Amino acid sequence: MLYSEKVMDHFNNPRNVGVIEDADGVGEVGNPVCGDVMKITIKVNDADKIDDIKFQTLGCGAAIATSSIVTELARGMEIHDAAAITKRQVADELGGLPPAKMHCSVLATDGLKVAIDDYLTRHGRDPIGGDIQSENPDFDPHGDIEGEHEEACDL
Ligand code: FES
Repeated sequence: MLYSEKVMDHFNNPRNVGVIEDADGVGEVGNPVCGDVMKITIKVNDADKIDDIKFQTLGCGAAIATSSIVTELARGMEIHDAAAITKRQVADELGGLPPAKMHCSVLATDGLKVAIDDYLTRHGRDPIGGDIQSENPDFDPHGDIEGEHEEACDL
């Protein structure tokens, strides 16, 4: 399986690893099939922009690389814009992901959405909600990868 140089860079040198102790929002999600988990913590300023963001991911190389790039993309973004980041954007930003690894990017985008909704509900505001794919009981993280299931967790 071939990974782009950028994927390997973020896997070997992940950005923004850790936990913000006094976070304004926390998102924890798990991939129900492979068991990989990730946690995102965020600090949000008065203008609803993400001032700081950190992640911890226990998972495959693609999950780590996608988590790392999501923290770079989301830093400085307004929360509604950050919540709209898609797994396709994440993959494109990394110079592409092998098809069997596209599902791994769901963890990072979902973790960010959950952290943003946590921030909003802590402040008595309506969560953005939306499709948290890894929490959907019908979500098949390998569902869009015909015939490549056996490849999906090989890193
Ligand atoms: S997130 Fe589990 S194999 Fe990538």
